[in-house]
Amino acid sequence: MSAAGTQDVPILLEPRAAFDVVRALLVRASYDEPSVARRLGRSSLIGAPRLVEGRKTLAGEVADVQAALIRLFIDGESLESTLVQSLVGDDAFEALRALGLVRSLPGDDRSLAAAVALVPLQGLWFASDLLPRSDQVDGTIQDYVYGASGDLTGFFLSVIPDAPGAHVLELCAGTGVAALRAAARGAAGAVASDLVGRCVHFARFNVLLNALDDRVRVVQSDVWESIGDETFDLVVAHPPYVPALAHVYDFRDAGADGEHVTRRIVQGAPAHVRRGGRLIVRAALSDRRGATIAQRVREWLGESESEFDLVQLESSEYGPFDAYQSVTKGGKDFVDCERWMRHFDSLQIERFSLVVIELRREAYGRAPVTERRTFGASVSPEVADWTFRWGRFLSGGGDTAASRMVGQMPRVVSGVRAAVHLESQSDGGWATVGATVEAAWPSHAVVKAPPLAPTLLELCDGTRDVEAILSGLRSAGLVDALVGAEDVARLVEVLAAAAAIELPACRLPPRAVTQA
Ligand SMILES: C[S@@+](CC[C@H](N)C(=O)[O-])C[C@H]1O[C@@H](n2cnc3c(N)ncnc32)[C@H](O)[C@@H]1O
Repeated sequence: MSAAGTQDVPILLEPRAAFDVVRALLVRASYDEPSVARRLGRSSLIGAPRLVEGRKTLAGEVADVQAALIRLFIDGESLESTLVQSLVGDDAFEALRALGLVRSLPGDDRSLAAAVALVPLQGLWFASDLLPRSDQVDGTIQDYVYGASGDLTGFFLSVIPDAPGAHVLELCAGTGVAALRAAARGAAGAVASDLVGRCVHFARFNVLLNALDDRVRVVQSDVWESIGDETFDLVVAHPPYVPALAHVYDFRDAGADGEHVTRRIVQGAPAHVRRGGRLIVRAALSDRRGATIAQRVREWLGESESEFDLVQLESSEYGPFDAYQSVTKGGKDFVDCERWMRHFDSLQIERFSLVVIELRREAYGRAPVTERRTFGASVSPEVADWTFRWGRFLSGGGDTAASRMVGQMPRVVSGVRAAVHLESQSDGGWATVGATVEAAWPSHAVVKAPPLAPTLLELCDGTRDVEAILSGLRSAGLVDALVGAEDVARLVEVLAAAAAIELPACRLPPRAVTQA
């Protein structure tokens, strides 16, 4: 790991007055995410392609100040110095140069290029290192400052709730993206911390550029090491999580199993997350032989683990071979592959999972909740919240499914699909042998159910409780006398956990909010 910069840091934190001038330029140029995204034909700048990646919009002559800023700071292309100066004006031109945001090309005083990427995002501006022209991170510097507008950071931001009035910490902050956003959206104060000196410098630059220096402090810290005994209402982190046999990139590599940084983040939660507070980490973790991710996370929490509810929201799962392919960018060397497979096997790794781990320190006087869900790309704070509420419903409402279901009028969720499975018989007829219930939102869930499932879903219209549903199934001749309310309640719970059915005690979040 590097704590010192390996490369000159191009941008400067002085003169302070230049920040005001640059900010005024960015506002005057409508260099904000909605305007720039519209200009590029998109709804957001997360994952927006550059010209070098084949973007067709705004590819022609640069004729206005917004286009000039996009060409310089998003596309990383050079422009004629005189053109930029005439578009932005003398004062802003000087301020851009003074802060090191732009510079002449070596040996060519007439051309100007950006020294860093500068992207408008979610009401703020973030400077980061320019992506290498090849669009491959390979070949860049070890302490490369990770851009705030990439897809992975976009996903990370999408799972973090606003925290008005809270004291927030972003560990592994890079540009400081989540800390700055929290402060801009009403947090009482935020700390952005990163191991890497270059990232700390960029985060400080971003704090000044966004005029948030009264609310955001930037700290250089190896995970919790320099955080002292400070405690927080909300801690968020998007650490490096790629397994590495040799450390190459600080933003990416995280020890032999990819968990070296994440593990230390979780281990610090008992000392730094306040009662009622939360820790949200976006990373890849692995299920090991004999220990699931959730069990391992609970072990890391140590003695206080029972104070934490834990929700594990998965985007995807992949095996050791896929991990090898991803780490080596499609590696095909048989010997190397063998080495990696043996390595993963020696760590007892069964499968990797790209996850959001959310811990809430709220489990006092009751058993803690542990829930695991697969969510694909549609996770949001509201969906995470629903998963916690579901866990609380299960653990709080009695020992049997039937007792938890008392007074509940289940309702099927719109968009749910049910299919019956038929099997051909020796007499040429067909028998119904099962059913599948599929919910697309908020997670994609497929539940194998008994043949009566479609009728049960029809009966779940919000007017019947479990007893009434059971009697409906009896009238339809679908259950015999041995089937009781507990059996029906259990099936309703399985379908409710998959969001195929909604219970009044655990409402689903409105879709419009979660898909915003
Ligand atoms: C994937 S980047 C995420 C940056 C930013 N939070 C984002 O989402 O865009 C991971 C960051 O973790 C930092 N990092 C790596 N090891 C660390 C450690 N031991 N302690 C603190 N930060 C670390 C890297 O310098 C890098 O900035």
